[in-house]
Amino acid sequence: MESLFAMSASTSLLLCAALVVAALFLADRARQARASAKAKLLESEYSGDLQPPPGPHAWPVIGNLHLLAGYAVPYQAFGDLARRYGNVFKLSLGTTPCVVVNGLANIKEVLVAKGAQFDGRPNFRRYHELFCGDKENSLAFCDWSSVQKARREMLRAHTFPRAMSARWTQLDGLLGVELDEVRGRLDAAGPGQAVEAKPLLLAACANVFTSYFCSKRFQLNDPAFNDMVRNFDRIFYEVNQGYAADFLPWLLPLHSRHLSTLAGWSHKIRDFMTDEIVQERLDSWERAETAEDYVDELIGHVRGNAEPAITWDTAMFALEDIVGGHSAVGNLLVKVLGYVAAHPEVQDRVHEEAVRAGVVQGKAVTLADRTLMPYTEGVVLESIRLISSPIVPHVANQDASIAGHRVEKDTLIFLNNYELNMSPSLWTKPEEFMPERFVSPEGRLSKPEHFLPFGGGRRSCMGYKMVQYVCFATVANLLNEYRVLPVQGRDYTVPIGNLALPWDSFQFHFERR
Ligand code: HEM
Repeated sequence: MESLFAMSASTSLLLCAALVVAALFLADRARQARASAKAKLLESEYSGDLQPPPGPHAWPVIGNLHLLAGYAVPYQAFGDLARRYGNVFKLSLGTTPCVVVNGLANIKEVLVAKGAQFDGRPNFRRYHELFCGDKENSLAFCDWSSVQKARREMLRAHTFPRAMSARWTQLDGLLGVELDEVRGRLDAAGPGQAVEAKPLLLAACANVFTSYFCSKRFQLNDPAFNDMVRNFDRIFYEVNQGYAADFLPWLLPLHSRHLSTLAGWSHKIRDFMTDEIVQERLDSWERAETAEDYVDELIGHVRGNAEPAITWDTAMFALEDIVGGHSAVGNLLVKVLGYVAAHPEVQDRVHEEAVRAGVVQGKAVTLADRTLMPYTEGVVLESIRLISSPIVPHVANQDASIAGHRVEKDTLIFLNNYELNMSPSLWTKPEEFMPERFVSPEGRLSKPEHFLPFGGGRRSCMGYKMVQYVCFATVANLLNEYRVLPVQGRDYTVPIGNLALPWDSFQFHFERR
């Protein structure tokens, strides 16, 4: 047997080389075959003979809207209906054809594998009204276009600052400034006095966002700044509500007064942004190699006539959408405090984690401590899981298919992440607040694949890093230094199903540790 393997060094080398070439050739063929099979699958996905998904009988006028009544969160109804009709089923809401998609594989099929076929957004009149008559002005509610692609690309460097980069360090410093202000206000209130958390945290987040994206900070007693914060929050509350009129547009006249109030809030925001932030930047703008901040990025694109062309009006809407992201973060933070007020043991664990990470008394927790504090990150993620705010609905931009069911162009697609967040088959004791579920046995942050609070694919959230950074810094610093205590006799039930809270929501006592 041995003689079979006895050959000269050059023959061995030649043979090895031939084997490597053959292996590479075969691997390449296999890759091509896989790619072509995938392409064929994608091509044949919509073949006229696929069946539409099953679903309940739809009534005239209301369709299946009545099936969503009586649930705290419509997505709970979707879970119950999925148990009857299967993971992918159709509904008519009013006259709008909808498909509800349950299950990780099916949701990823829509968001990722076929993201380009399902990248539209609903055409609700309310969305048009909110954005000066054209929902294409909105970053989150527009359909996909070259302008949206460019808007997302322009944002990337600003909303996803790389750890240790100059922008990340700048954000860390700005967080330090605002959290010092928060501490000052809490200490001034003293332990006996209940503090209304929402105005305090919204103002801090607003200043982080305006400082970071626009290089402008405001005094906390500036009435115009406080009006801006309030108006953004009003609009945020509004876009988080579901309206039957979205599906029954003939009900809209009943909302016309309210819609014009909303338009008034938007105009006030525009005036503030123009007068207090943008005008002087436009007047003094000079072309530079790299953008100083997001305002500079937008001015550079518009003034530099970059492709695709974006009007200054469109750029202003994009800026307002991003600065308005502070409302999402501020409301989320108040909800996080609502959860931890009921869980003093969670607060103690955050404090102990900060101490273990080397944060000594008198020193602030910084973004650099994040990797050493996975449990604290877990507190934020666990709150996001339980709140289960929905993925913004998508719309099919062409005839397509989901899980082998025919889905026609313009069908509205609900992606049921409530089930992904709350299913007992995916989580241990899903109803309980357990931040430790996001920490691996090795002590590292661990997010399961089925946890998709920021969506995915080409319409995924552009603000999730800001959410993680701002929430981490705020929660870590507050819980490291204070005990957050409920006020006797108050209800601390955290509303779920969307991020928004009413203006008068939770008060807490902040007691220095
Ligand atoms: C506070 C918690 C937040 C949650 C849970 C959240 C979640 C989401 C979700 C689920 C989507 C839709 C994803 C999809 O359709 O696949 C989305 C879209 C978006 N988010 Fe967030 N978000 C948050 C905060 C923010 C913040 C702070 C910003 C801005 C700084 C932001 C900017 C955006 C934008 C621009 C889109 C639209 C992207 C597009 O349609 O192309 N988000 N977000």
